[in-house]
Amino acid sequence: MRTPTVVGNWKMNTTLKEATALANALRRELDRVDGVEVAICPPYVYLLDVADQVRDSRIGLGAQDCHWETRGAFTGEVSPGMLRDVGCAYVVLGHSERRNLMGEKDDLVNRKVRAALAARLTPIVCVGELLEERDRGAAEAVVRGQLEGSLAGLGPAELEDVILAYEPVWAIGTGRTATPGQAQEIHAMIRAWLRKRFGSSGEGVRILYGGSVKPDNMADLMAQADVDGALVGGASLEAASFASIVKYRKENR
Ligand code: 13P
Repeated sequence: MRTPTVVGNWKMNTTLKEATALANALRRELDRVDGVEVAICPPYVYLLDVADQVRDSRIGLGAQDCHWETRGAFTGEVSPGMLRDVGCAYVVLGHSERRNLMGEKDDLVNRKVRAALAARLTPIVCVGELLEERDRGAAEAVVRGQLEGSLAGLGPAELEDVILAYEPVWAIGTGRTATPGQAQEIHAMIRAWLRKRFGSSGEGVRILYGGSVKPDNMADLMAQADVDGALVGGASLEAASFASIVKYRKENR
């Protein structure tokens, strides 16, 4: 009942030429994929060109962040409405790189989540602990705190339009994936928290795993009961590897 979902987060990578070529190659590779929701999140400045490449395809478009206001004197920022205007359906929010490098806190993530929902974008809300937090046994408490803060004030109906992503910071870009068991443990905790907080609406929420997802570890991660997809960084920059992650199921190969 939860559609498997694979999202490519390109981060601050590619030239314009590489971005359009990558999107075009993915369109061809993923033409016949069935039963998997797919989205790519290029840098802001390439959104319009990438939108042209994936129009009327199976590939959705997302942004990597947004502001919480609809317009105004916010130099350098981009509103959720602007993202919709150029063809986005998704927006990644609260990524650990923004939390840790740009100082984004849960209350700010929460404002962005509400703004994205108001603009009818699907927020992909990221949570995840640092290595030091995992080492002292605080992973679950940290993730729970991020969920409480980032989803504060949302009702069950709004939650149904949210995708969550668990990305342990120590697994991002390090080649050190969480084991399927480690991922499932946190995903199950997130599911239990969602049920408690939102009732049956929590059941339908997709929880993606992110952190060194590659073609060769995707199927094992997806075999876990509460892993509903992947948020892919490095491996989403190469058409063949992203496509083979999307095609993790035999029927799609
Ligand atoms: P990597 O797949 O490069 O580890 O990045 C994960 C990530 O941060 C996706 O948002």
